[in-house]
Amino acid sequence: MRKNIVAGNWKMNKTLQEGIALAKELNEALAEKPNCDVVICTPFIHLASVTPLVDAAKIGVGAENCADKASGAYTGEVSAEMVASTGAKYVILGHSERRAYYGETVAILEEKVKLALANGLTPIFCIGEVLEEREANKQNEVVAAQMESVFSLSPEDFSKIVLAYEPVWAIGTGKTATPEQAQEIHAFIRSIVADKYGKEIADNTSILYGGSCKPSNAKELFSNPDVDGGLIGGAALKVSDFKGIIDAFNA
Ligand code: PGA
Repeated sequence: MRKNIVAGNWKMNKTLQEGIALAKELNEALAEKPNCDVVICTPFIHLASVTPLVDAAKIGVGAENCADKASGAYTGEVSAEMVASTGAKYVILGHSERRAYYGETVAILEEKVKLALANGLTPIFCIGEVLEEREANKQNEVVAAQMESVFSLSPEDFSKIVLAYEPVWAIGTGKTATPEQAQEIHAFIRSIVADKYGKEIADNTSILYGGSCKPSNAKELFSNPDVDGGLIGGAALKVSDFKGIIDAFNA
């Protein structure tokens, strides 16, 4: 069956020293193995330091992006192979901030997903609509179009990815999708995966919710049948909050 996952997205926060301290604190706070997989996605420069600090049986480490090219003259870029060489196991791809501020298109993301998989990384592939699209009731159409980046994968490769539905209007705004809104669109996403790859693969795909997820709303969101955990921004920067969200799976 599919896994429950709580993944943190540190975004462009924390110096190396602060990131190391945060990872150590989290590692200590998770004295017992949580009831879900826990992942922390950090800035590139933190990866090589943070990966050996955490207990890999309890915490997976990931990047927040990788290049759409394998290697070569792409100044400033970091390849999926480089990410994997730090011991990281995951990579967030298609985050709405990457799509909006760095021009990441469906085609670019398709390349990134393929390179991540070719290097043994698990992509956490993000999709989600902006407020105007939600208000025009176009959210299903929007996420279906974004899924084209991963619908060219073989069934075997598709089985290795994690999806994260993040309504852009809920990211960092304090405004969360209601549990009903989350369930409705997660079920839709699972249905289009089933149409493409069949029910078994769809049932085994973890679909995380992201957008102002916090300890006070995590349990209600995660209790929906098609919500398999969360992708956590702001609340991942404080161990007590992140642990509070992880604990939503413990009760
Ligand atoms: P947020 O961010 O939890 O701060 O809303 C979520 C994300 O962007 O992944």
